Amino acid sequence: MKKVKWGVIGAGGIADRRTIPGMLLAENAELYAVSEINMELAEKLRAKHGAVKAYDNYQDLVNDPEVEAVYIATPVGFHKEQAIAAARAKKHILIEKPVAFTVEDGEEVKRVCEEEGVKIAVGLMMRYHSYHQVMKNIIAEGKLGQVVSCRGQLTCWFPKMENNWRQQKATAGGGALVDMGVHCIDLIQYITGSKAKKVTGFSANKTFGYEVDDSSSTLFELENGAYAYVDANFNIPDAAAKCRLEIYGTKGSMLAEGTISQVEAGKLDVVLTDDTLGYDAAQDRNDVKPVDIDVTFGNMYTKEVESFSNSILNDAPIEVPIEDALYVQKVMNCAYESNDTGKVVYLS
Ligand SMILES: NC(=O)c1ccc[n+]([C@@H]2O[C@H](COP(=O)([O-])OP(=O)(O)OC[C@H]3O[C@@H](n4cnc5c(N)ncnc54)[C@H](O)[C@@H]3O)[C@@H](O)[C@H]2O)c1
Repeated sequence: MKKVKWGVIGAGGIADRRTIPGMLLAENAELYAVSEINMELAEKLRAKHGAVKAYDNYQDLVNDPEVEAVYIATPVGFHKEQAIAAARAKKHILIEKPVAFTVEDGEEVKRVCEEEGVKIAVGLMMRYHSYHQVMKNIIAEGKLGQVVSCRGQLTCWFPKMENNWRQQKATAGGGALVDMGVHCIDLIQYITGSKAKKVTGFSANKTFGYEVDDSSSTLFELENGAYAYVDANFNIPDAAAKCRLEIYGTKGSMLAEGTISQVEAGKLDVVLTDDTLGYDAAQDRNDVKPVDIDVTFGNMYTKEVESFSNSILNDAPIEVPIEDALYVQKVMNCAYESNDTGKVVYLS
């Protein structure tokens, strides 16, 4: 099978922990090069993951004629310049979320990719969880009826750390909402097939005293009329995290727990019933059995790399298009604006 030759820019964080190990399992991808902030780190990561080349700067990596696609996993402040350099060098791009610091910068990245004729996808890899695919299919097949209510939750424990780029406004842009809520908003829009149209939000630092939010709650209405709630926190212990994704419709409910995660795991409870039933004053809730769901778990990062490599090799549709990621970023901007103004904010 033909394999895409990948170069990784920023190989020491999530790339080292998850994406490169996932890439190494992909059938149609090959890790060719890594770049880091210095040669010692780059060489260490090259050797660890069996890449051919190590670079101490991203420009040399994108200029390497062997590299066909790059995965950009640096702190967000570097995304725009690195993505534009990669596109100008005619490399396809898988970029971590958020695409860039601002939506405008992300749109510029998109424009340059179009100009250069390269493909770009975004690292919202939770779309590939088998249970999320099942949930999406159930809604697409109409089995949940009219979707009326959604909730997505992602939390972790992230205490104050000296000089951490994620805890500063100038380098992260936002906090728990931008870093974790992003996945929940994306999953709700992806699974329901409907986009947010009006948004309210609360966000603040309640616990740790760093610049960005450690607590955020976003309430939005989707184009299909459903209400959705996303709660993202940096101040809930990991051991207490539930990471729930819940979607309710006029014919049933789907409750996932532990699926909004870096590991494909967790459980899914689906109840489908009949919306033609009459009103039951007793509100009897005991007569419906959960639906049996049979899936095989895999590695979401492998699926992410295989999917985009397939788009590159065979012109298959891109599973996480940049437009979707930029829309999620607009929703988050609206949530912060709502927090600041106390008003409902409409997406234009
Ligand atoms: N999808 C996911 O599961 C997931 C999880 C965590 C982070 N992320 C995203 O990945 C990106 C990176 O986050 P992280 O947690 O890995 O950050 P990190 O700070 O842990 O790692 C970033 C790496 O990039 C390197 N780096 C910094 N500047 C560089 C440059 N100019 N050239 C080359 N390398 C450079 C750093 O040395 C470091 O090794 C962010 O956009 C984040 O939102 C995604």
